[in-house]
Amino acid sequence: MQELQNSPREPLLRALLEKRRRYHAFHPSTWAADLGLILDKEYKPVPPDEWQIKMLDSPSNRICLNIHRQGGKSAMSSLICLHKAMFKPRSLSLIIAPALRQSLENFKKIQEYINLLPEAPEFHEFTKLSMQFENGSRILCLPGGNEGRTIRGFSRPDVIVEDEAAQCSDELFDAILPMMTTRPECKFILCSSPFGQRGHFYKIYTEARGWEKYQLTAYDNPRISKEFLDEMRELRGPYVFAQEYECQFVASDTQLISHEMILKSYNSAIPIIEI
Ligand SMILES: Nc1ncnc2c1ncn2[C@@H]1O[C@H](COP(=O)(O)OP(=O)(O)OP(=O)(O)O)[C@@H](O)[C@H]1O
Ligand SMILES: [Mg+2]
Repeated sequence: MQELQNSPREPLLRALLEKRRRYHAFHPSTWAADLGLILDKEYKPVPPDEWQIKMLDSPSNRICLNIHRQGGKSAMSSLICLHKAMFKPRSLSLIIAPALRQSLENFKKIQEYINLLPEAPEFHEFTKLSMQFENGSRILCLPGGNEGRTIRGFSRPDVIVEDEAAQCSDELFDAILPMMTTRPECKFILCSSPFGQRGHFYKIYTEARGWEKYQLTAYDNPRISKEFLDEMRELRGPYVFAQEYECQFVASDTQLISHEMILKSYNSAIPIIEI
């Protein structure tokens, strides 16, 4: 190493690393792949999937992931938070899920990525719920319960991850939105598999404009076998299976008339009868 530092090639090497760093700043998927941050079940580094590359490198600030269970939603959104923290000093990333236990899982993933980094960053503070990097960036893990009362008070976040968004209340979603008032370019990522035809996740995925939307069923994941899916369909029944593995927003079993049926019932050709 000493030899290399004193060699005439050193400035060239530094320039190459700096160039790579600048490239990594705008290409989180290459950063993750070059540093071997995504591991398969044998703990071997693997490249991100096609949808993951698109999502990681997307310039969009509104991303809605309707992806099957265990598809990599939390892993990828956690990677985005770490990348932001390392490449944008003084940035703020918030991870929110219906229960603290769930957002802590994302936090754990970030810690695992940090352990894989060739040069670990320095921290001012590292607790179970927050990390403050030496460059001033923070990643905070927040519980989404209590209709969002516990998440008020944060402003100008750079990244917000709302994990298990279909299970988060609309009150929580309403509490998140004002945080972006003075930084609307904040990257807001909703991750979930469907949970009935209701709530903000359903509405955004099916209706909202300006969002980059992703859908990936378990059949499209090469890590999941057909045999496993057949078993799940049998064990969990068609209703749960369609939601969790086929990304389908099915009317909940307590919903007598589906949202689709309600929409179909609107027929402007029938005149309104005044009574
Ligand atoms: N490209 C990939 N290659 C190999 N393994 C991957 C890849 N992406 C994700 N994984 C692995 O898939 C598993 C599920 O990932 P993750 O927990 O992020 O999924 P999820 O969609 O959030 O699941 P859930 O719906 O249960 O919350 C993890 O073990 C993760 O490391
Ligand atoms: Mg998850």
